[in-house]
Parts: sequence; C-alpha cells; structure tokens
Amino acid sequence: MIISALKSNNSKDNRSPIHKETISTLINLGIEIWFEENIGEGVNTSNEIFQELGLKKHSRNKCLENSDLVITNQSLNKEEVELMKKNATILGMVNPFSNQELIETCYKSNINLVSMEFIPRITRAQKMDVLSSQANLAGYVAVIEAAKHLSTALPMMMTAAGTLKPAKVFVIGVGVAGLQAIATAKRLGARVEAFDTRDVVEEQVNSLGAKFVKIDLGETGETDQGYAKELTEEQIKMQKELQSKVCEKSDIVITTAQLFGRPAPQLIDNKTIDKMIPGSVIFDMAVESGGNVEGSQVDEIIERNGVKIIGISNLASRVSSHASLALSNNYNNWIIDFFDKDSLSINFDFEDEIIQSSVLVYGGKIMNERFK
Ligand code: NAI
Repeated sequence: MIISALKSNNSKDNRSPIHKETISTLINLGIEIWFEENIGEGVNTSNEIFQELGLKKHSRNKCLENSDLVITNQSLNKEEVELMKKNATILGMVNPFSNQELIETCYKSNINLVSMEFIPRITRAQKMDVLSSQANLAGYVAVIEAAKHLSTALPMMMTAAGTLKPAKVFVIGVGVAGLQAIATAKRLGARVEAFDTRDVVEEQVNSLGAKFVKIDLGETGETDQGYAKELTEEQIKMQKELQSKVCEKSDIVITTAQLFGRPAPQLIDNKTIDKMIPGSVIFDMAVESGGNVEGSQVDEIIERNGVKIIGISNLASRVSSHASLALSNNYNNWIIDFFDKDSLSINFDFEDEIIQSSVLVYGGKIMNERFK
C-alpha cells in the first residue's frame, strides 16, 4: 500500500498533513509513504528530513497517479481526482459543503472520499476529530492576534507609575475554540466573560475562572452531535440586544458561533459596534463561514468608529507546527483503526459508525444522504 501526503495548495495555509514526530506510526504499519516535494516548507521540515525518516519524495502528479490513499489538508480539483487510480482513497479536510464537484468527480471516477470534517462526535473518535484539534489552536491564536491590536496590556499591573486595569474580554460561543480562547485570555490576565446558547457550558466557563453571561432566549439547546440548534430570528434579535451591553464595556470581543454545515449567525451588528469603546477589537472567528459580525471580511481588518473588526482565515495555520502535529495524529488514528494488516489495505466496514459518517463516497456510490 502506498500513502502519499500532499502539500497545501493554498498559500495562506502552512500546515502539512504529515509531521516528522508522528510519521513513524504509519511507517510501523508497513506502509510505503510518499510525500509531495516541499511539503514541510511551512513547518520547518526539509525534504531531506522526511527522506531520512524513510519517506519518498515525488511530484504532486506522481503522488496522485500511484497512491492507494492520499492525505490532504485541502480539497482536490477535478483534474487531480481524475489522475488517481480507480478505488484509491482521498482522506482529509476536503470541505464537502462547498464542494459538490469533488463529490461528483469522486463517484464518477470510482475514488473513495473520506471527509475528516464528518468524524462523529463520539468518545472513540475524539482522537480523529480534526475540527476540534484545529479549533482549539484557533481559539488560542485569536486571543494572541486580538491582543496585538489592542493599545493596552491584558493583565492588571500595579506599578509605581500607576495601576493599569486588566482588559475585559467577552467570548461569544463556547465550543472548543471558545473554551481555548477563554483559557488563553485568562492566562494572560484578562477579565473574561462568555456566552453560549447551550447553557450546559456554564459550568465549563466557570471552571476556567470566567463569568458566564446569562441571557434568557427561551428554548435553545443542542443536537445529538453536541452542536447548537439554530435560533429563530426573534431569538437572534433578543440575543443581539441583550449581549450588546456586555460588548459595550469590553476591550476584546471574540465571536466563535458556528452552525455545522450552515452559515454562521450574525450576532453583532453596526448598532452594537457604534456603542463600543474606540480602540476595542472584535475578532470574528466565524468569518470564513459567513461571519458573526456585520461588515467583517476574510483576511481584512475593518475599522468602524475606532473599533477594529478582524477576520483571519486559517487561524490554526499561524501555529503551523502544532496544527500539523495534531492533524497528522488525527489522520494517522483514522488509518490505524481501519487498516487491515493481512491485506495491507483499508477495511471500509460500513457497520462502523466512524466509517458510516466520514466516508462520503465509496465504490462509485455517494454514501452520505446529505450529498445525494
Ligand atoms: P461549533 O464550532 O459548531 O460552534 C461554536 C460554539 O458556538 C458552540 O459552542 C455553539 O453552541 C455556539 N453557538 C452557536 N450559535 C450561537 C449563538 N447564537 N450564540 C452564542 N453561541 C452560539 O462548536 P464546537 O466547538 O465544534 O463544539 C460544540 C460542542 O461539541 C462542544 O460542547 C464540544 O465540547 C462538543 N464536542 C464533542 C466532541 C466529542 O464528544 N467527541 C468533539 C468535539 C466537540
């Protein structure tokens, strides 16, 4: 079996799907590992280092043409999929919701497609959960980046030159990214408040030493996969009004609210921004899926009445080595769980919940109802 790891085809994404510290896991299974040349550019790992570890360097096309499985952090285009051998497998973060062409090309070309975004949220699959591993790092990066744009420090400082007050940070949406943002802001000494429509997170917020903002929106709740249920228009309106008071006195507002497979809800509008303190910063972590903040733009800093609205794509890529280490472990864990040592191939066991959920195309058929 040959597994190839493909280099990022997005200049803003420095992550690699393999990492020098985790690759031995796959080598020890007896798998031949190829990599696209310069794959480690964004993580300070030369071709020679991977070659010394026993991997073979090839061009992108050669990797695509000869592999049984390719690992990728991005989607592939139609021409690339068509280069692959019949029955080969693509495994990675392929962004299926905005990529119907990939699904169609895979099923027409008889290529199996494993979308790591569809790993189910069950305990056994946590080690494969790419959304969590990357959201965690993104939450950390958001605080660091927001702090850079503030003209004050985060911690309280009592100095001979006067007492400097701690910054106030408000985190909206307390999933994986939000929890890490809270923890990071707390470690930096900020006073932190947070809100989420899933009231089950109140305890987690408190346990990090932050304050949970109580906003009664009536019935909210979560899906059986732990994702937030979509709010009604009326509830969103109520949320905007009530949380506006907290935004007005915050130095940093970090929004992380996402809805799996749907555009993010807009939670901060210009009315709120206009009441915020000049010099304060809003960091919209949902900017790539539609944005939580009116006016936020991908990879831009917008200024409105002295308030900076920041939207940065591929946040986890800003800590590319750690992000790649975590991602490569996620991919390796999927491969290990479904690798059949006797046939040296992947065992696509559709009785298994992880296979059922993550394999979108198999054997020339679309397996996931959402994409039929
Ligand atoms: P996400 O990225 O889909 O959304 C981020 C947060 O925004 C969520 O906490 C969501 O409740 C919140 N949100 C949505 N609409 C909102 C609104 N109008 N106002 C305020 N907040 C809003 O969520 P993520 O980070 O993927 O995690 C969701 C939950 O799933 C978490 O509790 C997490 O711990 C859990 N989880 C469980 C896993 C497992 O059991 N294997 C794996 C990963 C996450």
